[in-house]
Amino acid sequence: MLKETGFLDFSSKNIMITGAGSGIGRVTAVSLSSLGANLLLLDINEDGLKETQKLCKNNSLLLVHDLADISGLKQAVESKISEIGKLDGLVNVAGIPCVQPLKTLKAETAEKVFKINTLAALELSKIFCSIKNHRGEHPSITFISSVYGIVGSSANVAYSMSKSALHGVTKSLAIEMAGKKIRVNCIAPGFIKTEMLDGVSSIFDDEYNQRLNALHPMGLGEAQDIANAVVFLASDMSKWITGTILSVDGGFTAI
Ligand SMILES: NC(=O)c1ccc[n+]([C@@H]2O[C@H](COP(=O)([O-])OP(=O)(O)OC[C@H]3O[C@@H](n4cnc5c(N)ncnc54)[C@H](O)[C@@H]3O)[C@@H](O)[C@H]2O)c1
Repeated sequence: MLKETGFLDFSSKNIMITGAGSGIGRVTAVSLSSLGANLLLLDINEDGLKETQKLCKNNSLLLVHDLADISGLKQAVESKISEIGKLDGLVNVAGIPCVQPLKTLKAETAEKVFKINTLAALELSKIFCSIKNHRGEHPSITFISSVYGIVGSSANVAYSMSKSALHGVTKSLAIEMAGKKIRVNCIAPGFIKTEMLDGVSSIFDDEYNQRLNALHPMGLGEAQDIANAVVFLASDMSKWITGTILSVDGGFTAI
């Protein structure tokens, strides 16, 4: 039977969120904070992090770090864990877009996108899964991928590669970590109205933007729609869910 209270209570939980300096990461931070979580917030954008911190109800620790610097992550994150305590959850939101057709795509660009969107999330998962860095009955990792990790899109090959790879990571890591009771899940958002979409859609014409809207039977999403799904997957409400890719896309992939 569903208990009335407790499942969405994050008051004794420490959650780390990357990409917390804007968009989906910021709204996720504010949502988890309002449910009582203590937060460790990572982003390359210090001003954005400070803005998010102001919006959060609880105290939060900030970590300014470029995720392209993968080798420096362990020391940087563990020094913050020594302040906040072991983590109950890791939410990997940070990511960069890449709209480029194959003929102009350079290997270095694809490598950078893969590093920030995929390999950094994998390294953070490795740090989280270390026995000294996580705790609790139902520790969880949540990745944010994209509908373009599921379906194809022209001029998006590097981004799609990075996001579909997260789906492979989710499934294999879920199996590898099941013995440690660590759950690993991924949310695949459709188009969400955030700074990232503003940056990308400004290079498209009106016709494309109209088509984009038509691709979402329920219209474009809001960052809160993704934050709500993160809250669910990071909570004890989903304690038996692992290895899943949850589409939160207003019907984009149902067409
Ligand atoms: N907005 C959308 O329509 C949409 C759709 C599908 C998936 N997503 C995914 O959701 C996630 C969040 O997107 P958003 O729309 O909130 O974007 P956003 O640009 O608003 O936020 C991304 C955050 O990641 C941070 N970041 C970027 N590069 C970084 C780096 N090298 N090191 C540390 N931090 C870095 C940015 O500073 C920013 O705060 C991304 O992974 C994105 O791919 C977004």
